[in-house]
Amino acid sequence: MQFDFTDLPAADRYRLLTNFIGPRPIALITTRAEAGHDNAAPMSFFNVFAHEPPIVIVGFSARPDGSEKDTLSNLRRTEEFCVNMVDMELADQMILCGVNFAADVDELDFAGLEAAACTQINASRLQRTPCAMECRIERIIDFPGRAIVLGQVVEMHVRDDCLDAQGRYVDPSVYQPIARLHGDNYIVSDRQFELKKPAEMSAHEVAQLAPSEPEKP
Ligand SMILES: Cc1cc2nc3c(=O)[nH]c(=O)nc-3n(C[C@H](O)[C@H](O)[C@H](O)COP(=O)(O)O)c2cc1C
Repeated sequence: MQFDFTDLPAADRYRLLTNFIGPRPIALITTRAEAGHDNAAPMSFFNVFAHEPPIVIVGFSARPDGSEKDTLSNLRRTEEFCVNMVDMELADQMILCGVNFAADVDELDFAGLEAAACTQINASRLQRTPCAMECRIERIIDFPGRAIVLGQVVEMHVRDDCLDAQGRYVDPSVYQPIARLHGDNYIVSDRQFELKKPAEMSAHEVAQLAPSEPEKP
């Protein structure tokens, strides 16, 4: 089957894109509401796109009635937000935060999620998340009814048990984030495998570094 995206209703484009581009990691985004309480909402149009500067990107759509989601309104106002990664322990509470509550609802309270203070931004992070990233807005790209937000990570909090003894690499037996597939289907990263480029291929690599220089990712 083929689909001409230049001539396809938006709902069909959404279905096809989200059915095939997956799994998508879930950012449970916490922001500060104007009234002062915590706001939390899951976003799976999310990923990291650079480390220098450290940029994460989140895609927002409007609610079915066309109104702007609270998370987007809050981060426009405060210019700050926190990304909390989600594992199985947080899955049931994450989905509750996906309910389109009125702006005066504190989703952390509602879902029974414990908040901790952020260090550099005015928002809470989740106490139990494996990893929380405090972000400042780098830019917002607006489209009719949606927005793409670039956030610069300014602080990362990692739960100690998620790292190896040296505190450098993630422990894959502990850190197993969930991600969204199509519709209401999710996947947990509990079946990981290693895949290395064959050593003999190194002769074909262009722009090799000199042996003394550290390789950048
Ligand atoms: C797993 C999951 C992923 C979601 N991803 C997005 C997303 O990427 N962008 C978006 O606009 N809404 C997304 N939503 C819907 C919002 O989470 C939902 O509309 C939420 O109620 C918005 O809350 P807020 O008004 O407090 O921001 C997602 C929902 C779920 C359950």
